[in-house]
Amino acid sequence: MTKWEVYVVVIFLFVHLAASRVESIFGEGRTVKITNKLGGGLKLTLHCKSKDDDLGVQTLAPDSSWSFKFKPAFFGTTLFFCNFNWGGESHWFDIYDDDRDRVSDNQCYLCSWNINRSYPCRFDESTNRFDLCYDWNK
Ligand SMILES: *[C@@H]1O[C@H](CO)[C@@H](O)[C@H](O)[C@H]1NC(C)=O
Repeated sequence: MTKWEVYVVVIFLFVHLAASRVESIFGEGRTVKITNKLGGGLKLTLHCKSKDDDLGVQTLAPDSSWSFKFKPAFFGTTLFFCNFNWGGESHWFDIYDDDRDRVSDNQCYLCSWNINRSYPCRFDESTNRFDLCYDWNK
């Protein structure tokens, strides 16, 4: 590469990084996707809410998904929590939490979750697996 080509690449990378920084500061839209991975032919009933929004009750057949979009609050923090029900079990989980999903190194724009009988697991772009697993809320 010539010196000028190196300059162009460096400037391009710099502008690109700056733009993605600005996007994450101003909080563009995010999507949460939830997939029923309970197995055993179980249906998953879920009900997600935030402080201000009630996203209603959804019923997911095995292996099917539902998603919602939102813009994280510019000031303050955004939190969506869901109740998950199947075969007599009921669990709560914070499906989107700015502290976990936006501020950390592991932030997601498409936050994709598999729900199985042990726990919710988020897709990890660095491993390409659903291996970011968390306990249900206490
Ligand atoms: C749920 O998914 C996690 C991550 O893939 C896995 O380690 C765990 O064994 C699964 N549990 C069940 C009951 O399938």
